[in-house]
Parts: sequence; structure tokens; C-alpha cells
Amino acid sequence: MKKQYILGLILLCGGLFSCSSGVKNQADFDVIPLPQEVQTASAGDFVLSNNTVIAYPKGNDAMKRNAEFLAEYIKEQTGKNVQLTDEIPSSGAIVLSLGLDNANKEAYHLEVTKQQITITGATEAGVFYGIQTLRKTMPVAEGDVLFPSTVVNDYPRFSYRGVHLDVSRHFFPADSIKRFIDMLALHNINRFHWHLTDDQGWRIEIKKRPELTTIGSKRAGTVIARNSGEYDNVEYGGFYTQEEARDIVKYAQERFITVVPEIDLPGHMQAALAAYPYLGCTGGPYEVWKQWGISDDVLCAGNDETLKFIEDVLGEIVDIFPSEYIHVGGDECPKVRWQKCPKCQARIKALGIKADDKHTAEQKLQSYIIGYAEKFLNSKGRKIIGWDEILEGELSPTATVMSWRGSEGGIEAAKLGNDAIMTPASHLYFDYYQTIDTENEPLAIGGYVSVERVYSYEPVDQSLTADEAKHIIGVQANLWTEYIPTYSQLEYMELPRLAALSEVQWTLPAKKNYDNFLQRLPQLISIYDLKGYNYAKHVFNVKAEYITDYVDNSIKVVLSAIGNSPIYYTLDGSEPTEKSQQYSDTLSLKESCILKAITIRNNKKSDVLTEKIDFNKATAKPLTLLQPINEKYKFNGEYTLVDGLSGTPNYRTGRWIAFYKNDMEAVVDLKQETSIHKAWVRTYVEIGEEILDVRSISVLASDDGKTFKELKTEDFPPVTSKDKNGIYTHELEFNSVNTRYVKIIAKPEYKIPAWHWGNGRPAFIFVDEIGIE
Ligand code: ACM
Ligand code: ZN
Repeated sequence: MKKQYILGLILLCGGLFSCSSGVKNQADFDVIPLPQEVQTASAGDFVLSNNTVIAYPKGNDAMKRNAEFLAEYIKEQTGKNVQLTDEIPSSGAIVLSLGLDNANKEAYHLEVTKQQITITGATEAGVFYGIQTLRKTMPVAEGDVLFPSTVVNDYPRFSYRGVHLDVSRHFFPADSIKRFIDMLALHNINRFHWHLTDDQGWRIEIKKRPELTTIGSKRAGTVIARNSGEYDNVEYGGFYTQEEARDIVKYAQERFITVVPEIDLPGHMQAALAAYPYLGCTGGPYEVWKQWGISDDVLCAGNDETLKFIEDVLGEIVDIFPSEYIHVGGDECPKVRWQKCPKCQARIKALGIKADDKHTAEQKLQSYIIGYAEKFLNSKGRKIIGWDEILEGELSPTATVMSWRGSEGGIEAAKLGNDAIMTPASHLYFDYYQTIDTENEPLAIGGYVSVERVYSYEPVDQSLTADEAKHIIGVQANLWTEYIPTYSQLEYMELPRLAALSEVQWTLPAKKNYDNFLQRLPQLISIYDLKGYNYAKHVFNVKAEYITDYVDNSIKVVLSAIGNSPIYYTLDGSEPTEKSQQYSDTLSLKESCILKAITIRNNKKSDVLTEKIDFNKATAKPLTLLQPINEKYKFNGEYTLVDGLSGTPNYRTGRWIAFYKNDMEAVVDLKQETSIHKAWVRTYVEIGEEILDVRSISVLASDDGKTFKELKTEDFPPVTSKDKNGIYTHELEFNSVNTRYVKIIAKPEYKIPAWHWGNGRPAFIFVDEIGIE
């Protein structure tokens, strides 16, 4: 309500301005990422017109380039041609200058008065971010722009604001990489982590090792879908020459982005082994891998040739890339070859490496290889970043840890006094699906990372002291490209999640607010549209929140849309139009239905939200769990089981809750004596993730909720290698009885069978719904 009132005032003011000055288009400082401090002032409004000039300090090329960027943005967004000058005019100018006294080198101060707009930076980079902010305040519309008198004081929360891109699984040519860098700049991102090598293709020219590209950059085909076993048999390849890479480094530098190259070692090296088979433990032959996954064939850690190879490659990498940090990978390096390799075992012996209760000898051998690469890079004045596996074994005090398997690696590193960059898959892997409705999405690796989930990420764990927290130097999102064959799809996976990321990286947590972010998003999207970026539009669809009301036994549905755009819905499965019922208040559902809803924004219909809500005798009834839900997969808790909603084949969406190392034991209160003859449990199975089906289900009845009598128990066989992943509904029928309380017990597998790599461990069960009929 309050928001609408403020919006009304702004519109009114806008109207007044246009009367007095004839300026229709007004700048709005509600930008993304949100600056630390934006204050309205009373020094008069600035009008940007064809007479405006941009002034920069004489003789400073970087500042001249900054001025050119701003002029280009103004031209693109408003059609205005502003001139550049290195003399400071008395009025009508946007003045770019240095000299802001701020310890944060990327800080800037922006001030709008009637005479001028000034952007003063602590460095040229600070000025660049001031320009990015100013650019994002302007509407995309032809004409003069009125800037209300404003003061902005801004600086980033984190110094390392990264985005990673894998160009091995799929290759994107140099022009696409430049377009990518422009997209990063729009989001105030200052590190481009370029994952240049992997099992499926080596993508950077190394002059001393020409076969890395003549052989290692090409694979004979690519597996279809998710390692289906079928291949397209189409040769796939591509690499960047050193000249192209240098040109990209320069292009990025001009936009204050540092390119951090990654040479992933000692694992993920099969493409290099295809070129130089003697670098592998078995000697090959090897092919550039045509499928996805983690290859067992890695660099032989016992061979001196491997050390020479590392020096040859990294020696040229430091020549191409001036970055202080060089990423040396270190992730997902299987040790099966090393365990059997005489050379690797001889190295373990020669180095006196001994396994201990924390790490195997082979893990420590990996530390030796990473340490070797680090010493070489240190000798060239550089530092290493490695994936969080480099914590296994010995970690040098100067290595920076990139925490990807969760936040734990980053927390551990910070506690050890090492720097860390947070990029947990759970929140920042942009190769994951961004919506629950995966059936209508391009094939992705799996997972679920919505814009809201990205936005919710807090990189500094509460367990860290203030001194430890200083070691969390940054945040990064990663894009692995197994399932991203085109650049257009790459943009779709990045946007608008990059917008959410940019606020995690830049804005102080006290200022972050997801609803407010969504209100600011359309202004940024207008620049996406201008640039022709392919972005995902899920955030513009109707959002539904479901609440189980066990008091009046209904499912409450709250619908919302960005900017409070009108929502129309149906409950009979018919397609909603603007003639359908308009949503005004929470829906209260008491019987099965198909909810469909759209919103209309700028005369455009959103995608249709579709949700089947199924009622049975347990739905929206009071429910008690006698054994706990697994903390990691608790989501909205026990009422998930009786909310009438179905899960999709994806266990991370919140539709499924998990039980681990204990049973699911649920008691439903039917609230009055009720005749029942059937109960069911719906499970999700993903065998590779140790999410197995139930081993038994029991149904019990009680009149007082205390003493239960068994109605039926059914046992299920252990998982076999022939079983399929998917959703299973297990129904138990019994002679009909009248009862008030029903207990359903589902037992997970407590000992995974020997054929499975989880042999002997307990398995998860995931349940989205239980039913009573
Ligand atoms: C990774 O995702 N393997 C770092
Ligand atoms: Zn070996």
C-alpha cells in the first residue's frame, strides 16, 4: 500500500517536471546492484540533452575511455549525442574525476545538481562503477533525460566479484566472449574466471605444446543428452590463439575486469592426455572425451615429464594473463590410476608421504602436485586459486580456496587464515535449473537454483569471527556448459540470475531485500532488451505460495507478480485470459482442482502458472512427525506431506522432504472418525545420489492417537542396478476401518547393497506426499 502511494507521488512529480521542462524521461536511482547510499538532494535537477558534454581529466586514457563508454551508453539508451571534452565547462556537463578519498579502490561518489553531474572515483575503476550506476538510472527511450538532484556514495562489499565460464564442454568464440564481458560489466562484476581446459577439449594455444590444440581441442563427437551412450559423431572443436586471448584480456581490462585463467590439474586432463599420452599413468591411448563426467585418467603424478608439462603450460599462461591469481583447478581428481601406478607409488615413497586418519597418501600426492604448480607460479609473482579439494592434504598459507561443494570449504579455509571465494553449487551454479517446471526448460544438468535462491545467499557464515570473515574475499557464480551448446542459451542461464548475484557481491546485506530487488529488476531488463540479451522470464510469471491450513483444512494460495501487475486465474483447468476471475485476495481451496494463472505486464501475457492440487482424506489435516526430517532437505517442513502438491523429478525444489538415518513416521489426525481403506506414499528415487526407494511401509490406526493397531505392512526389495530413477507411488489397500488417527511409517534403506558405490551406507528417502483414502 505504502509503496503504491510513493509510486503515485513519483508519477505525479514526473508529470510536473514534464510540464515545466518538457522533459519526459526521468532517471531513477533504483538500480541493480543497489548502491550503499542514495540520498535525494535539493540542488536542482539536471537535464541531459544534445548540449551535454562529458568532461574527463586531460591525459588520462582510462578516464577518456570511461567517458567514451558513458557517451556510448547514453547514445544507445536515449539517442543523444554527447561530446567529450578534457576542459571542465561551468555547466551542462557530466564531470568524471579522480581523487575520492576512500580506502575502497572501487568506491565512487556521484552527485546531481542543476549545473552538472559529477562522478568522482577513488580510482578509474570507481568512476567506471559510477558510470554503470548512472547508465542504469536512465530509461531506454529517445529524448532528453531529467536527473533528480541526488547524492550517491557507493562501494562494493567484496573485492572479488566473479563469474566463471567453462569453454571446454562447449566452445564460444572470441566475439561471444567479448559480449559476455560486456554483460559482466553491466553487473559490476570484476573477475572473469575462464575455465580453459578439461577432459572434453583444450582451448588455449600453448606454443611449446602445439598438440594441445592440434589434437586436444577436437573431439570426435559428443554424447547425446545425459550420457545416454549415444553420440552425435560430429567433430567438435575450437580454441583461442594467444593473440585472441591477449585481445580478450585487454578488452576485459578496459572494463576493469581481470581475466583469471584456469588450467585444471591434475584431474580433468583427458584432452591433454590425448595429445601427450605419456603424461598419463597407463600411457594411453586416450581420446578427447566425448561424454560428460569425471575421467579416471589424470596426469601421472610420478612422472617428471608431468612437472615439465605444468611448467611449460603455466609459463605461457602467465605471459598471456597478467592476473595476480592463476586458477590451477584441483577438483575431482580420481586416484584410481595413482593407486596402481608404479611411478606414482614410487613418488609417494620418495617424498616420504604417509596416509593418516584424515587423508590418503594419494590425496597428499595431489597436494604435492598443486604445491609444485604453486611454487612455480609464486616464482613468477603470482598466487594460486584452487577448488576446495585443495584443502585435502596440505594447504599452503598463500593459496586461495574456491568453495564449490558447499560453503564448508570456504569456512574451513577462512578459519585456517587462507583467503576464500564462495561459489557453492547449492546457490551459485547457474548450470542448474532455475525453475521447478523443468519439463518446459532446455535440458540442464539438474539441480535447482532460482533467482530468489541466488539472491538469498549470504557468503559470510555466522560462525566466522570478524578477522576470519576478512578472508572471504569474494563471491562467484559458475557456468559449466555440458548442456549449453549455444551462446544464446548461455545468456538464458545467466540472466537474470547475474542480477541477483551482483547484489550478493556488491550490496551490504542490511540493504538487501528480494521483493524490492524484483521491483527494480524491470529497469535493468530494459537494458537486456536493448542489448538483445536472451534472459529467462520466470520471475515475471505469477508466483504462488501455498500454505497448509490444518485448522480449517484448506490449502491457502497467495499469488503475486512483479509490480503488482493484474493476475487472472481459473480453477477448472481452462486457460486464463484477461476475462477470467481477477485475483484480489488469498484463495482458500478445499477440493481438488487445477489452478492456472497469468499476469499481464506491458500488455504482454506471462507464461501460465499451472498447478494441480489433489485432495485426499489426509490433505490439510493436522500432521505430526515422530522422527525428524533431514535438516538439509527440510524446506517447508512436515506439512509438505499433506499440501496436495506434487513434486517433479528434481529433489531440490522444496516439493520433496528427506529422511536420512531414520524412518518417516507420520501421524495424521483425520479430525473425526473416518472410513478408510487405502494409504499411499509417493517417493522420488535418484539412485546415483543415494536416494533410494523405501524398504517397507506400514499403516496403523488409532482412535486416541496413542495406541495404534497395524492395518497393513508391505516390504519392498533392495535396489538393483536395473532399477530406474523417478517418482514412485506405493499404495497399501486393506479392509476398510473407521478411525480418527492414521500412522504411516516408511523405512529407508539402512545399508546400500554392495553393487552400489554407497555400499553399506544408509540411503535417503525423499517423500513429497502421503495419502489416505
Ligand atoms: C566443479 O564444479 N567441479 C568445481
Ligand atoms: Zn602415475
